[in-house]
Amino acid sequence: MKLSVNIDHVATLREARGEIEPDPVIAAGICELAGAEGIVCHLREDRRHINDRDVKLLREVVKTKFDLEMAATDEMVKIACDVIPDLVTLVPEGRNELTTEGGLNITATKSKLEKAIEILHSKNILVSLFLDPDPDNIDKALEVGADIIEIHTGKYSNTFVEKDQIIELSKIASLAQMATEMGLIVTAGHGLNYYNIFPFLNMKEIREVSIGHSIISRAVYTGLQKAVEDMVNILRND
Ligand code: PXP
Repeated sequence: MKLSVNIDHVATLREARGEIEPDPVIAAGICELAGAEGIVCHLREDRRHINDRDVKLLREVVKTKFDLEMAATDEMVKIACDVIPDLVTLVPEGRNELTTEGGLNITATKSKLEKAIEILHSKNILVSLFLDPDPDNIDKALEVGADIIEIHTGKYSNTFVEKDQIIELSKIASLAQMATEMGLIVTAGHGLNYYNIFPFLNMKEIREVSIGHSIISRAVYTGLQKAVEDMVNILRND
């Protein structure tokens, strides 16, 4: 299983003091040296962590895969078309949320998603949709033209009741299997860490996980290189 590292919270620390350090661009290079196979950043409308300069420089320095996470707005689609990331992950975005709280509601945002995906495809940018593990989402994702779905693992990550974890894992596993059979590439992410990642090693349909908060948090204690290496080793020993 591959690891993409979300480096937003390196920028969160920078913005906490309005300084120039730590720099998410340098962090991206360290993550790649440590074995990450992709770098993710979320350019939010309010620029609360990652900013336009970061996105431009990340495009230049990332040598693995650059995944730009964003809302399907005209402003963001234009930026993506200028920058040309390898992949755009479309997510819902709420001004007052601390992090992306749920998956996309494809039905409610269908025409916006279709338009964004069509424009991004015209620039040869792959598009992933961040979705809750609901089987109805597969047909809807195919209808709007997604290439990849990223399954939102937040509900699994946020429960510590074993019975509920098992329910969530089985929803994730069956969605991953069905979506793969229907021709979609499947990844997963949100709230995954060094303790709750293990059941995913058995889900062969999930090609990649996107992890941010737990890796950047561990980096405070161990350094970023070791924090990424520790996760890469877990994922490669499956
Ligand atoms: N995937 C998506 C689509 C996200 O929005 C986030 C959070 O920014 C992540 C993965 C990573 O989540 P976490 O920071 O909890 O590892």
